[in-house]
Amino acid sequence: MVFLHSYAILKSKKELRLFSPGQVNQLKPMLSRYDFAVLDKVPEDSLVTFIISTYGEGEPTDNAVELVNFLKDEALELSDGGSTLPNLRFSVFCIGNSTYENFNTIGKLVDQRLEDIGATRIGICGIGDEDKALEEDYITWKDELWLAAETQMGWQNGVGVHSADFELNINPKLDAERIYLGELTESDLTGSRVGFQDPRMLFTSAVIKATDLFQDRERNCIFAEFDITASRMSYETGDHVGIWPVNSDADINRLLRILDLESKSDQVFDVKSLDPGLAKVPFPVPTTYSSVFRYYLDISQLTPRQTLEGFIKFAPTDRARAFLEKIGVDKDFYQKEIAEKCFNLGDVLLTAAGDSLDPTSSSYTHWNIPFERIISASSRLRPRYYSICSSPRMFPNSVHVAAVVMKDRPHADSKVVYGLTTNYLLNLKRAVSHEDIIRDPKQPIYSLEGP
Ligand SMILES: Cc1cc2nc3c(=O)[nH]c(=O)nc-3n(C[C@H](O)[C@H](O)[C@H](O)COP(=O)(O)OP(=O)(O)OC[C@H]3O[C@@H](n4cnc5c(N)ncnc54)[C@H](O)[C@@H]3O)c2cc1C
Ligand SMILES: Cc1cc2nc3c(=O)[nH]c(=O)nc-3n(C[C@H](O)[C@H](O)[C@H](O)COP(=O)(O)O)c2cc1C
Repeated sequence: MVFLHSYAILKSKKELRLFSPGQVNQLKPMLSRYDFAVLDKVPEDSLVTFIISTYGEGEPTDNAVELVNFLKDEALELSDGGSTLPNLRFSVFCIGNSTYENFNTIGKLVDQRLEDIGATRIGICGIGDEDKALEEDYITWKDELWLAAETQMGWQNGVGVHSADFELNINPKLDAERIYLGELTESDLTGSRVGFQDPRMLFTSAVIKATDLFQDRERNCIFAEFDITASRMSYETGDHVGIWPVNSDADINRLLRILDLESKSDQVFDVKSLDPGLAKVPFPVPTTYSSVFRYYLDISQLTPRQTLEGFIKFAPTDRARAFLEKIGVDKDFYQKEIAEKCFNLGDVLLTAAGDSLDPTSSSYTHWNIPFERIISASSRLRPRYYSICSSPRMFPNSVHVAAVVMKDRPHADSKVVYGLTTNYLLNLKRAVSHEDIIRDPKQPIYSLEGP
């Protein structure tokens, strides 16, 4: 399947494949690398899928600007000199948020313009609304696309996310290789993995100072100053700085325990992609289980319904299997029991097996999910953005941010959800100001050592 994603052409496989969150994230930076003038060369038996989000006030993301300009150009010229795409079979899934006035403007524009220039839409234009249920919007669009690809293009359903993308080698030759314990690689720095275009834009910064701007029983607002002296960065007040979090000790240890990896947490392994055109290993290797969970994969966010469906065959008990099967077929059950309670992967696996969510509990049912499946099912940990509130004229060598520490109970029945980066900043603030007092005993603790 050809999958042009806010994102990229993969390869022509007459097989439908379900993309895991990790794969979708890896595809993101690639859209800007294509020459759209050759869209007239895409074979008619291929399908090009665009996943397009809208930002700003109805604007494209940086990596989609070229595509949008290309499609909007009245004098658009393709590689053969023509201006129409009768060969192209396409589908668009739009990602936006209905609280914005220009809801999904860019995705809708791409969809409309492709039709205007003669391309054939397969399935429906998907309208994803982050404010409601983005994953369910995606599933509806994808199911329609699957049906249309079968009927209009004669494709067959493939194995998709249920087949392995990676192979783990737990006895790698270590030779002179370094072991990655949270560091980023050259390709992280040059943007092919995480979307940064300029290596100078990624910088390990020391916290100069961090204090509370205000705090009450419910909230903290942290003011933090980061040293950028050696970074060669310049900035304007109001620019956004991305801060990369790490996962909390409690989430890491619990998941290691559930997956029966606790005793192997520092074991070094290598990972190989079984199909590098489709799935790239989302973190540098060789590495260790605990490094992957601490630094590289997002293990704190809501687990998508499709991911859980893929774990049915690894359920350790009948009860756990029945729970995951119900999630797979009953989106209301998923919404009530998982989404509204803000369950991350660890929470769901414990609940499915009937184990306690109490972090002090030590008896967990082990889930024998191959680690390569966990990699496929997870997104890469990503930075969160903060508006710079310092003035470059007064502070050319530091950026200052103010962050409200997130601690939500989104639903009466849900657990308290601690925002990852903001609570990491809270830990950093405590460390730099030598505070010992933790007001909330459940507040996550983060290891502040590391690369
Ligand atoms: C351009 C831009 C500028 C910004 N500037 C600022 C700024 O100056 N100051 C500031 O404080 N913030 C700012 N933000 C917001 C900031 O980027 C973060 O989104 C915010 O701090 C929360 O990040 P976090 O990692 O702590 O929370 P996350 O871990 O990302 O969680 C955020 C929310 O997601 C939900 N969530 C988390 N886990 C789950 C789960 N398991 N299930 C369901 N829901 C879950 C919860 O509602 C939670 O509150 C800005 C955002 C953008 C896009
Ligand atoms: C600063 C900002 C501006 C946004 N503007 C719009 C908008 O104009 N229209 C819209 O539909 N969604 C808008 N959104 C919502 C994003 O499209 C939404 O968060 C989406 O999930 C982003 O997906 P991505 O991170 O995968 O690109 C905006 C989000 C942010 C943070």
